[in-house]
Parts: sequence; structure tokens; C-alpha cells
Amino acid sequence: MKNTFGNSISVTLFGESHSSETGAVLDGLAPGIKVSEELIAEKLSLRRPWGIISTGRVEADHFRIVSGVFNGYTTGTPVCILIPNENVQSRDYTQTRQLARPGHADYTAYCKYHGFEDYRGGGHFSGRLTAPLVAAGAIALSALSGRGILVGTHMARCAGIPDRSFADSEKDLEKDLKKLSGSRFAVLDEEAAVQMRAAIEQAAGEGDSVGGILETAVTGLPAGVGEPWFDSIESLLAHALFSIPAIKGVEFGDGFAMSDFRGSQANDSFALQGGEVITKTNHNGGINGGISNGMPVLFRCAVKPTPSIYKEQDTIDFIDHTEKKILIRGRHDPSIVHRVRVVVDCVTALVLCDLLAQRFGTDYLGEKQEQRISER
Ligand SMILES: Cc1cc2nc3c(=O)[nH]c(=O)nc-3n(C[C@H](O)[C@H](O)[C@H](O)COP(=O)(O)O)c2cc1C
Repeated sequence: MKNTFGNSISVTLFGESHSSETGAVLDGLAPGIKVSEELIAEKLSLRRPWGIISTGRVEADHFRIVSGVFNGYTTGTPVCILIPNENVQSRDYTQTRQLARPGHADYTAYCKYHGFEDYRGGGHFSGRLTAPLVAAGAIALSALSGRGILVGTHMARCAGIPDRSFADSEKDLEKDLKKLSGSRFAVLDEEAAVQMRAAIEQAAGEGDSVGGILETAVTGLPAGVGEPWFDSIESLLAHALFSIPAIKGVEFGDGFAMSDFRGSQANDSFALQGGEVITKTNHNGGINGGISNGMPVLFRCAVKPTPSIYKEQDTIDFIDHTEKKILIRGRHDPSIVHRVRVVVDCVTALVLCDLLAQRFGTDYLGEKQEQRISER
């Protein structure tokens, strides 16, 4: 029953959708990583629901860092972040307690925890736990940016409507990543954004939900990061990304499409540019043998439509063992694609920090010692 992920740097998640607090503990971070409460608040705001395209459960996310940070920098001891749940309506879940919401984790949680699970709002399986994950990930993003590494994600597709791909902008990738970083609806093509919002609103009006695809790019990652076999970049990223509720597919580079390519199309030819090793194309998403090759790391995640919809569905009463109909009440997102994208950024940053610490040592991510001493 592990809730911890990571080797050199680990993150532990705790809490439930309606518990008094949720939180994360980050362990193994170097001393001297800048911790900006503004940056954490900004990242949390990107995850926060807004408008009719999101759930009505809006939380202020009044987070508290209770350990491991002193004078705005990590101390090198565990960082514990707490975020209270302040806007809960537990009664929405009491009437349907025994009914399994199709697509959600009510039935599987009951099977695993024998009825002792906190079922309110999806309990421990709620997307709410991605709030502390984002708060922890914001620190990891800050550590990466100190090393010139940028992570950014956009909605490559939502409700079947495509955005332009990062592949179309690889020369201006960093510009795109900077533009996306503060966006609450991260889409590169403005017209696609308008259509996507209209499609989410339409689904919401019909009591239904939609999904999509998130595309992520990482720039500035040096070549040679990643462990062979089981802790390859792909293995660890996929492991962590699949931990995000509602992620149902992850592909790197051209992913599944590569199965239809010939080798001559799939291979990325090497070249030298200003003395630097590059590849002329990036079908392999910046990863060869599970290890970074210095090109941007590119991957995509499929996000399923939110399971809680407002249409009558067939289900079972898992305590009485009878077939039933379910009509879900409560507050739910008609789409989570726009909210999950910052979660993907944060999870990616946590995994990369872990791999960088394994490759170059934990102190690699802290600020230089001379700098720290001169600041005191
Ligand atoms: C940020 C976020 C918000 C979510 N909001 C909802 C929601 O309002 N209603 C819902 O049914 N599921 C929501 N989900 C998805 C469920 O948590 C998820 O589908 C469920 O735990 C089952 O896990 P699975 O889809 O990975 O199988 C959300 C997920 C995330 C990441």
C-alpha cells in the first residue's frame, strides 16, 4: 500500500478528498533549492477549477510548508506541505455510497480496503490529491529551471479538436513553453482553444464529459540522464504519469505511430551544430536506450473523459449485490484535460529531479555552496 514514489528524491502523498488536509512529503532534496511560495501558488492556481468548464468545487489551496524550508531555500531535510480541504459537501456521497460510479474507483477501493475506505468524493483516489503533488512539483520545477531545464505541456487535443503540435515549433520550443507556463487553458492555437472550450461547454450542458491528449516537452536536459532498463526515463516517467488519476495512455516521441514507420523514417540522424551533438529529427522524443540524448524530451498522455457524468447509468450495489441505476449528484469536471496539464508538468519535474540526482548527485540541484555562504 505504498504512497511513495522516487529513489534519490521521493514524494509521498497523503490525504483524501474530504479529509481535513491533504499533503506531500518531499525527501532527498538538496539543500539550497529556491522555494518560492509565489511559484507554488501560481502552479496551484493553474490546477484550480474555473468557469463552467470545471467542477464547482473551487478550493483556495491555502498551503503551508511545515518543514524543510528556511529563509526561502530547502534545508536538505524532508519538506512537508499541507493543503486543507475547505470546500467539501460529503452528503453528496452518502446516498450513493454502495453504488459503484462507472469509470471511477469506488468498487475497486471497496474490494481493496474491505469497506474501510473513505468513499467521500472518491477518497484517496480523488483528483484532489493532485493539489499537493503540484505544490511539491513546483519546487522540483524551480530546481530544474535553476539548471536551465524547462518543462511545459499543452492540450494537444480535447474533445477530438487538435492543437498544433510541439513538433511544428521545435525551433521555437522554449518560446512556446514560456508562453504556456502561466496559461489556465494551455493551447498553442487560439482558434483551437475556442473550439475546445465550446466542446467542453456543450458536453457539460448535456451532463456529459470529454477527454483529450496532453503533449509535454522538456528542453535543456543534458545527454546521459536516465538509468538502464527498469529506471529508464520512459519507465519512470510512465510509472509516475500513470499514477495521475484518469491518465490512460503515455507515448514517447512518435510512440505508437512509429510502428507503421520504416527504420529509415523512424531513425533520428545525428549531426553536429556549433560543436553540439543534435539529431536532425526527433521521432524518438529525445530518448535512446532509456537515456536522454540532449534533444527535447517529448511525450503525450491520453486523459480519459471524467467518469462522473450526470446521465443515468447502469451499475451495481456492491454491498447488496444487486443491479441498480445510478444518477450521480455532487460537483464534477466536464473535462479535466486543462487542469491535469500542470499536474503532468509537476510529476515530470519530480521524476527528472530524481534522475538528475541519481546521475550527478543530490547536491547538483542545490545552488552553489559559495553562493549560499555569501548570501548569509
Ligand atoms: C485534477 C483532477 C480532477 C478530477 N476531477 C474529477 C471529477 O470531478 N469527477 C470524477 O469523477 N473524476 C475526476 N477525476 C478523475 C478521477 O479521479 C479518476 O478517474 C478516478 O480516480 C479513477 O481513476 P482512473 O481513471 O485512473 O481509473 C479527476 C482527476 C484529476 C487528476
